[in-house]
Amino acid sequence: VGHIDDVIELRKTKPGTIPQRFVRDITERPTITTPPPNKSLIITNHHHMPIIDFSKLSKHNTHDEIFLHELLNLATACENWGFFQVVNHDIDLNLMERTEKMSNEFFMLPLEEKQKYPMLPGTVQGYGQAFVFSEDQKLDWCNMLALAIQPQHARNPNLWPNKPEKLSETLEEYSREVRKVCENLVKYIGLGLGLKEDVFEKMFGEAVQAIRVNYYPACSRPDLVMGLSPHSDGSALTVLQQAKGSPVGLQILKDGLWMPVHTLPNALVINIGDTIEVLTNGKYKSVEHRAVANENKDRLSVVTFYAPSYEVELGPMPEFIDENHPCKFRRYNHGDYSKHYITNRLQGKKALDFAK
Ligand code: SIN
Ligand code: FE2
Repeated sequence: VGHIDDVIELRKTKPGTIPQRFVRDITERPTITTPPPNKSLIITNHHHMPIIDFSKLSKHNTHDEIFLHELLNLATACENWGFFQVVNHDIDLNLMERTEKMSNEFFMLPLEEKQKYPMLPGTVQGYGQAFVFSEDQKLDWCNMLALAIQPQHARNPNLWPNKPEKLSETLEEYSREVRKVCENLVKYIGLGLGLKEDVFEKMFGEAVQAIRVNYYPACSRPDLVMGLSPHSDGSALTVLQQAKGSPVGLQILKDGLWMPVHTLPNALVINIGDTIEVLTNGKYKSVEHRAVANENKDRLSVVTFYAPSYEVELGPMPEFIDENHPCKFRRYNHGDYSKHYITNRLQGKKALDFAK
């Protein structure tokens, strides 16, 4: 991505200009609130995303009433929404704030500094724009910093910024905490499905973890651009932290309509990714979502992807297949899936066709 395609730079130098490369075709604009054929307007907040109290799960015995009640809430959220907010998650609020602050400082560095860590086409590591493969592809109104966290050998140490000074160690510390939340959540999700608590842990092997910090500068014409193109996640689980003071930007496709996600302060937004949709044979769905730009305010989000080891072979589990639920997906290697995911542009749930 050249100078001209860096949205932070654009906003800084030509705040009123939207280059053609960012102007979406009519049918892809955020004002179009349903996928074609479009029928109605955006729903604001008729129903809100389920809230899961993590402490009711983590601090109670699996036979306790409190645990079982929250486990049912979780299972219902996974089945009906594919998205939920987690409160009382045990991640230190100060660590969350430091992560936002350091990330923000990184994005505010001069472009030359950030370009020491270039995100190359077909990769999702470093600074820039991911999922860009052709000259005529529209670009998202977003710059990101993406880093592989686990396994260690997936890391490219040259792409870990050394400015601001504490960014790398903060992301490292944050990622350790988020990993614990993910490890617990896959246990609870397993239990909620009536499976053994270690079923996903065993299946995933040495789980893959990656972090992506998204920066969406304010945009004079948010109606013309897309912050992040509609997509479902290629992970098993995704954990999203929206920075304090950021405007609402994430929208999920709920019952055919784009619904803006309002989050509680300090909550994490979790969603089911493609892996769990495949494993549960579609009982839990990897819900399509997108991010829109805001006219007045910049927005920052910190996103963690948690996924099986690349070596793992995946397919629908026999528990989810019967005469009423025929097998919807083939078996495939998760490394191949990931490769397919990152070498194609974000386009709704199209990546999942790989598993069909
Ligand atoms: C994502 O889907 O990766 C991020 C969406 C957001 O920034 O809210
Ligand atoms: Fe996503």
